Amino acid sequence: METVNSAFQYCDQLVRDFEKVIEAPIVTKSSVYYTGVDLGTAYIVLAVLDENYQPVAGAYRFAHVVKDGMVVDYIGAIRIVKELKQELEQKLGAELIYAAAALPPGTDSLDSGAIKHVVQGAGFEITNVLDEPTAANAVLKIQDGVIVDIGGGTTGIAILKDGKVIYVADEPTGGTHFSLVLAGAYKMSFDDADQYKRDFKNHRELIPVLRPVIEKVSSIISRHIREYPVKEIYLVGGTCCLNGIEDIITKQTNLPTYKPQNPMFVTPLGIALNCTQEIL
Ligand SMILES: Nc1ncnc2c1ncn2[C@@H]1O[C@H](COP(=O)(O)OP(=O)(O)OP(=O)(O)O)[C@@H](O)[C@H]1O
Ligand SMILES: [Mg+2]
Repeated sequence: METVNSAFQYCDQLVRDFEKVIEAPIVTKSSVYYTGVDLGTAYIVLAVLDENYQPVAGAYRFAHVVKDGMVVDYIGAIRIVKELKQELEQKLGAELIYAAAALPPGTDSLDSGAIKHVVQGAGFEITNVLDEPTAANAVLKIQDGVIVDIGGGTTGIAILKDGKVIYVADEPTGGTHFSLVLAGAYKMSFDDADQYKRDFKNHRELIPVLRPVIEKVSSIISRHIREYPVKEIYLVGGTCCLNGIEDIITKQTNLPTYKPQNPMFVTPLGIALNCTQEIL
């Protein structure tokens, strides 16, 4: 279990540091800044690291410019990334030049051009476009097991063997569907249901209502890992913030399931860790 503990130690510390600098950026000068741009279905997140790859600033915005990993509002995406970039540049008193971005697994042949153009359109030099689970694993540092990224629109699955991604999949079930279930059950608008869901105080009450959709995600995981000797599940993505989701997944899949303290920023930080100064 050594690997599990040490992986989460690094991950939890990095995420904690990132949460701090979102509130209070570190403005001491760095010779270079590395930015990770995560264009998600629910959130656009920018994570900025210094020359030593330590978090110095971050910002995020709820947005609907991406659907199931595809950029559907190209102009809107550029505008938001540009605004977040400017906001962070002002706070840091420095220009952000280099960025990396990521794609859900399996969509690269379709969409890597669009993501790259959004990041460039916002004024960055793009240095890397990687797949999301590989990004997440830069933070988790898992050798063997499956990383399950339950985001807004999709659930990304990446099986690792000896630290390398050997199988990936992306399925269109995510937090958006959780909110739709709640909107129906509670007769709320989608936005109200999503907000209600994000409040940790409500999680205990929500778990029974969300159980069927969590079980569906569990069956998706089980189906994809069936032919691989996976012994452990690692959860990331905003939807995994839900208290108790890990217990249902453990029960349904019969596999020990781990999640870091805040699974929401793992992928954006992993993207930033993969940013370099070499322009693509
Ligand atoms: N505290 C919370 N409790 C429960 N759900 C949450 C919480 N915070 C965020 N979420 C949910 O997490 C989802 C967004 O997660 P994330 O930021 O990982 O997705 P994304 O990267 O934008 O989407 P995708 O990866 O599918 O493109 C939303 O559905 C949101 O409602
Ligand atoms: Mg995501």
